[in-house]
Amino acid sequence: MNNVAASAATSAEIAESAPIAGQSVRHESAHLHVSGRAIYADDIALPANTLHAAFGISRIAHGNITSLDLTTVLAAPGVIAIATPADIPGENNYGGIIHDDPIFTDTLVQYAGQPIFAVAAETCIAARKAAARAQITYAELPPVLDIRSALAAQNFVMPSRHLLRGNPDEAMKSAPHRLRGTVTMGGQDHFYLEGQIAIAIPHEDGAMLIHCSTQHPTEVQNIVAHALHRPAHAITVLCRRMGGGFGGKESQPALIAAAAAILANKTGRPVKLRLDRDADMLITGKRHDFLADYEVGFDADGRLCALKLMLASRCGYSADLSGPIADRAVCHLDNAYFLEHVDITTHLCKTNTVSNTAFRGFGGPQGMLIIERIIDDIARVRGLDPLAVRRRNYYGIGERNTTHYGHVIEDNILDTITDQLEASSDYQTRRAALVEWNAQNKIIKRGIALTPIKFGISFNATVYNQAGALVHIYTDGTVLLNHGGTEMGQGLYTKVAQVVATEFGLPLSAIRTSATDTSKVPNTSATAASSGADLNGKAAQAAAQTLRDRLVAHACQTHQLTADQVHFADGHVYLGPQHRVNFKDLVASAYTARISLSSTGFYATPKIHWDRSRFNGRPFFYFTYGAAVSEVAIDTLTGETQLLRVDILQDVGISLNPAIDLGQIEGAYLQGVGWLTSEELHWNGKGELKTHAPSTYKIPSVRDWPLHANIRLLEHEPNREDTIHRSKAVGEPPLMLCISAFLAIRDAVAACGKSGALPELDAPATPEAVLRAIDSVRHDGAHP
Ligand code: MTE
Ligand code: MOS
Repeated sequence: MNNVAASAATSAEIAESAPIAGQSVRHESAHLHVSGRAIYADDIALPANTLHAAFGISRIAHGNITSLDLTTVLAAPGVIAIATPADIPGENNYGGIIHDDPIFTDTLVQYAGQPIFAVAAETCIAARKAAARAQITYAELPPVLDIRSALAAQNFVMPSRHLLRGNPDEAMKSAPHRLRGTVTMGGQDHFYLEGQIAIAIPHEDGAMLIHCSTQHPTEVQNIVAHALHRPAHAITVLCRRMGGGFGGKESQPALIAAAAAILANKTGRPVKLRLDRDADMLITGKRHDFLADYEVGFDADGRLCALKLMLASRCGYSADLSGPIADRAVCHLDNAYFLEHVDITTHLCKTNTVSNTAFRGFGGPQGMLIIERIIDDIARVRGLDPLAVRRRNYYGIGERNTTHYGHVIEDNILDTITDQLEASSDYQTRRAALVEWNAQNKIIKRGIALTPIKFGISFNATVYNQAGALVHIYTDGTVLLNHGGTEMGQGLYTKVAQVVATEFGLPLSAIRTSATDTSKVPNTSATAASSGADLNGKAAQAAAQTLRDRLVAHACQTHQLTADQVHFADGHVYLGPQHRVNFKDLVASAYTARISLSSTGFYATPKIHWDRSRFNGRPFFYFTYGAAVSEVAIDTLTGETQLLRVDILQDVGISLNPAIDLGQIEGAYLQGVGWLTSEELHWNGKGELKTHAPSTYKIPSVRDWPLHANIRLLEHEPNREDTIHRSKAVGEPPLMLCISAFLAIRDAVAACGKSGALPELDAPATPEAVLRAIDSVRHDGAHP
């Protein structure tokens, strides 16, 4: 239809046609995911002369290499080349912030699994077999493996930090009640379905193309450039999708890509490096385990008066992202609660274990679990409903609303969420019924907990809160979108495409998103901190608006209209009340008039600032909120637990895509439940990780999903800040809803002892841990 009068389209109807942003459209690759046609890095067709690589790794946790004999490796069938530090033309480092991560360690070995060399062979199997044949001797040193030992030895990867607000010493002294305790929790392997992988392809004149499964293409580009001693413009990094990242592909892929690139540089042939599951779990970093020693002062009703806390994380042998992760733990130690007098010291423990890294929540879950455990302790000691104690300590509105790091909370909806969830989940009735059940049942005990979340959105480091996009319109009216965010299954590409489709009034099928590509959008931040859609959605919207403005100006000129008379909807452009044209016809006409149909877009988050040295500022643009009620049953004979029911109410502002957001919430909750119940990382006394495959490391499966689940998005609460379509981030926050499951298990354990008993239950609450905790309340009785 070209230039014909719109039969019945009134402006009211145009306004009514629902924008695609906000609709539950399917994931852009769903049809490919379910039919096996989605192309992951491992599926990319390789040039005929491609080599396959494998790492040679340390078998000991700490020591000096006294001899390294690689002749048997080189002589192995199919082997073409070996890379050691001597083969690195530039810097032997993949540490993004602090340069303390060698790609191949030289003499000092700092963890069992540390790469010492890499080998390239004609096949993947040949490379892996050859790598295992290295003859390495070591002068072993005693390893420091756990947090307590590192604290005793003052073994740290970075200087300790301190936050002080109010007068905790005085407030502690005058508090009616005081309690001391320790909270410990384990780490977590990312267990993305697709392991770490990179393919490095040498191009002409010193250039290199890298396909990599990475949340941070720009960091991979920079680290490979430094390792090869090449300019950044020579290295291009591409990532169409990851089969999961969860934070594990923020800093770790640089190691994989660098090793492949070094071998590609040495041989002049493409090199693919794909870790198998065991190698992936041995070599790459995980969630930090944390330990907190606390002293808390409170009144008879459980109101917090003062908190003093020592927070220690196991960082492994190097800094990696441990500094920012510890800072985020501190910034989330309040969770929903006003901490008036508080003293927190953080220690970043250096151990001879793999260097721990980002994992969904980035220290937030650890900080929040600590305060929730403390509140649970207070409630148990005082014989109060933990929910009542929580609510008494919630941040206020207009008062008691400044965080311990000086951020004034302006969007507090904790009461709204808690009221709604408490009612919809029938919390009080069920809690009373549970007391009945526990009185009558000796073997199966039940527990329930409602926990809230408040999670800050933005990277603490202000610089990372920026994004770019590139949008092309072709003359057939279709749109190619590119932005700096990466797709790891979370639906970012879908959401950003929805934003662009909405700007142009086009169906989603008119928008295609091309692989994240450092040569299209430069200097990008990691897709992390849940900010992917916030940042890239705004950047892409800006690019689309620039193009739309050009099209509007062109339409105004050709049709003698003013800009407010031009609307984009239903694949058409409405020109005043009388006319409409196909979007593609206006585009073709603009092309003929020699108007640029390509634009970049850029976004920088406003209002935020952060003074790291003073632990002070407004690091977050806004907060997201949520709450969950979990109910569990535990078998006191076997220690097994079962999730009976979960009710979740999560704030996502005005959702960009409710279906995707619900999927994120469900996945995050269960991934969190895995962290706190079944996923146990075990290192033996020599520092060898013994849980490096699904045979020994238990992630949740579909059978671990609660028998009954009511997952809902909070309605009618647009983001009060000007985010993309007033949405809120969703990737990480709901993970922390899992704390309700952990505390429900603790509640069930407590039912095995006298009232007031404090179960000694550490995370993960494996059957063994649950049985030990039951023993602790049966023998210990009430806490002093
Ligand atoms: N969802 C899926 N399916 N796969 C993932 O790897 N990563 C999580 C979360 N949701 C992840 C996921 C993490 S750690 C983050 S920070 C966010 O997604 C990143 O994406 P976003 O910023 O677009 O939400
Ligand atoms: Mo997510 S831990 O910020 O990648």
